[in-house]
Amino acid sequence: MIKLSYDIEKYREHLLELIEDGDVVIELGCHVGRSTQLFCDKCSVIAIDNSPEATEEMAKLDVDFIKGDVRLHDVILEVFKKIQKCDVLAIDLGGGYHPDTVFKVFYIWSSTFKPKHTVIRNRGVLEFFNSASGSGEEYMSDEGYLESYHDSGIPPQIKEFDLWTPNLKR
Ligand SMILES: C[S@@+](CC[C@H](N)C(=O)[O-])C[C@H]1O[C@@H](n2cnc3c(N)ncnc32)[C@H](O)[C@@H]1O
Repeated sequence: MIKLSYDIEKYREHLLELIEDGDVVIELGCHVGRSTQLFCDKCSVIAIDNSPEATEEMAKLDVDFIKGDVRLHDVILEVFKKIQKCDVLAIDLGGGYHPDTVFKVFYIWSSTFKPKHTVIRNRGVLEFFNSASGSGEEYMSDEGYLESYHDSGIPPQIKEFDLWTPNLKR
């Protein structure tokens, strides 16, 4: 199942609804662990964030925290060396964060770790989902990743992230 939200309370509700005792959870964008602390007692968590504020606060929780940029191949590889599959993938890089980046992060992490459920907090992704209408062709997934991904393992270096400029100005 893939759950989308923008409201942080709904994001947390989705996490609490889907995470079961003993699950393995990867949390991207944990910040100082305000959501993490709601579920980390009942499951095993690898949490990642690149904020300087995160390290000290995350050390107070019983989780495996990695300070890193979730767009980077080396960070995915570091996690992949620890676990090759997770039950729940949580992604909150900021509700207003670029939806294209969030989708790319979702696609790469979910296709690598094949979660049963993915929970994403992002306004743009939610707005796209709510606004689009399909052609009737029934491509969909009951899992936390897209069925259209062919099982080719951990993706190679993520070149796309270097190909874009933040904006174009005269
Ligand atoms: C809104 S906060 C997350 C709040 C948290 N999920 C919660 O429930 O309290 C977004 C976090 O995403 C992190 N973030 C944004 N882009 C990131 C990236 N590329 N790699 C790692 N962390 C990132 C930021 O540092 C920030 O801590």
